[in-house]
Amino acid sequence: MPNNRHILVTSALYYANGSLHLGHILETIQSDIWVRLQRMQGHECIHVCGSDAHGTPIMLQAEKRGITPEQLVSEINQEHKTDFAAFLIDFNNFHTTHSTENKTLTELIYSRLQANGDIVAKKITQAFDPVKNMFLPDRYVKGECPKCGAKDQYGDSCEVCGATYAPTDLKNPISVVSGVAPIERESEHYFFKLENYTDLLKKWTTQEHLQPQITNKLNEWFEAGLRQWDISRDGPYFGFPIPNTENKYFYVWLDAPIGYMASFKNWCDKNKTDLFETFWGKDSTCELYHFIGKDIVYFHALFWPAMLAASQFRTPTALYAHGFLTVNGQKMSKSRGTFITARNYLDHLAPEYLRYYLAAKLNDGIDDLDLNLDDFTTRVNADLIGKYVNIASRCAGFISKNFEGKLADKLFDEALYLRFVSENTQIRDNFESRQYHRAIRDIMALADLANQFVDQNKPWELIKNPENHEKVQLVCTQAINLFRLLTIYLKPVLPQIASNVEKFLNIAPMQWQDIHKPLLNHTINPYQPLLQRIDPKQVEAILEKGKTLMTDTPTPAENISKPTPSDIAPIITYNEFAKVDLRIAKIVNAEHVEGADKLLKLTLNIGEENRQVFAGIKSAYQPEDLIGKMTVMVANLAPRQMRFGLSEGMVLAAGPGGKDLWILEPHAGAQAGMKVK
Ligand code: 2FM
Ligand code: ZN
Repeated sequence: MPNNRHILVTSALYYANGSLHLGHILETIQSDIWVRLQRMQGHECIHVCGSDAHGTPIMLQAEKRGITPEQLVSEINQEHKTDFAAFLIDFNNFHTTHSTENKTLTELIYSRLQANGDIVAKKITQAFDPVKNMFLPDRYVKGECPKCGAKDQYGDSCEVCGATYAPTDLKNPISVVSGVAPIERESEHYFFKLENYTDLLKKWTTQEHLQPQITNKLNEWFEAGLRQWDISRDGPYFGFPIPNTENKYFYVWLDAPIGYMASFKNWCDKNKTDLFETFWGKDSTCELYHFIGKDIVYFHALFWPAMLAASQFRTPTALYAHGFLTVNGQKMSKSRGTFITARNYLDHLAPEYLRYYLAAKLNDGIDDLDLNLDDFTTRVNADLIGKYVNIASRCAGFISKNFEGKLADKLFDEALYLRFVSENTQIRDNFESRQYHRAIRDIMALADLANQFVDQNKPWELIKNPENHEKVQLVCTQAINLFRLLTIYLKPVLPQIASNVEKFLNIAPMQWQDIHKPLLNHTINPYQPLLQRIDPKQVEAILEKGKTLMTDTPTPAENISKPTPSDIAPIITYNEFAKVDLRIAKIVNAEHVEGADKLLKLTLNIGEENRQVFAGIKSAYQPEDLIGKMTVMVANLAPRQMRFGLSEGMVLAAGPGGKDLWILEPHAGAQAGMKVK
């Protein structure tokens, strides 16, 4: 790797129509740690981000609030910027896709695609809202699933039977925007001929630009054949007009990644540098990394490199995809209060607790990462306060009280110091390869060693005997130097604490290289507490607050496979709750359902009558284990026609899913038919 690297890092540009939550923060904490590590090594590393401003959801939300989309975007852009800064995310620039830079670049790229013959116009038929006079994105049409008949399904897929289809296939469709039945209407759209880049992409995706799991996913897409990509939308639409067309706009996903370039261009202009070509030119030797969620790989690994190559720009060095954040083992949920917004967290806890916890769990893969709130409290308190900060807090006082803040002029145990130094390469490499959890594991093992050193030498005992005074200074100097090394290693993760340590140690901002020179014969400042323990009450307060933040259900996202929290349940009143008829039911029969992966067919007795219920609990139970058990069911749920038959109620079960799913089993004295409330 070159000595001095020139790196551009991007984090995803989030839609400017809602507050950030901890899932968003996960990504930027990951990217920020990486960026800070590079900067500490002396590399040039520029981190740009911004708002994704365009698209139907933003247009409609602005309309609902009676403001212009520009106003909405600027408001949310400011909010996101403030929240990221509070999480100590050190972007060089936070821009927006609704900017002159982005418009210019989008038009330039589009004109180059056109010149190559990569754009083709085709007529397509789409759902159209005759009241709102607008074409409806798939998620804005709801109706009955054409396959299983389930009601209230989105226009792209059925949440009950998993079928995927076009909105025009839905039975009894309605427009989510106006509530009327949409009509079908034809319109001309522009398509990017992605298939022209199949060879280029096949090559690019096997050249270590991607994580192995992503390469595998791409192979599936290649096998299915690359399809032309619809890059235009009809007005009304909030986006950039397509030049030389009537009422056609670029689809939000066309100009979104170009927003990375635009944010960088805006940074160049603000800083009066002309690095744009150096970083984005076709033959650039600079490095370019995109940190993204695994749900937007398709856009970044196929369309984006193809668009860049087609328009004579460089392609990314690598995509770094991550998994989603779960809280307490489950998708974030508004009703449980675990849909934690950035602001809610920050109102109760300091950012570095979360930065540390996520770093301690992050790796280079795309598996989901769980924020278990009990584990979070225990681990942060044990590691950061119990181990790391403890070293300084136990030793600093002796130096200020007895030696006027002066550190000794030599180390007490140089070998131990060198042992700490010798681990730097491995720690650095683990950060570099995004195996943050390994780096943290090694750093905490060193913190244990430092604490053992203090325990063995007991400065609090030594100080009682004036003959040992010199030794106290040496022991505490050693401990503070070990603490200083740990702080350098943790600095990418804990930048604010590191800065406070720099003040305490009375030194300039630390770089990675500073590990080689111990701090000796130097006057430090009196120690101020660096960090408080997390009080579990603070975490409870976050959850309580989370439960009250049940505002709007987010507008449906306009793209593929977004992680929409499945259980964004609105608050219901007591009267609404009282309507739910919960009954003890006896499972008198249970059987497999042919062709169903998840369902079991249950016959439930609730006293006078039997009910047939299809329950998605096959992953956890064999039918024979269920027969004879008591459970709890919702007895007054409207019957639903499923693919396999009529389902006349619902069984209550709990758990994260898979094998860990338990039907509720009432006390043995319960009798079928009893009311539960
Ligand atoms: O998923 C999202 O929130 C998108 N707005 C991310 C876009 S990333 C980039 F392409 F701009
Ligand atoms: Zn269905």
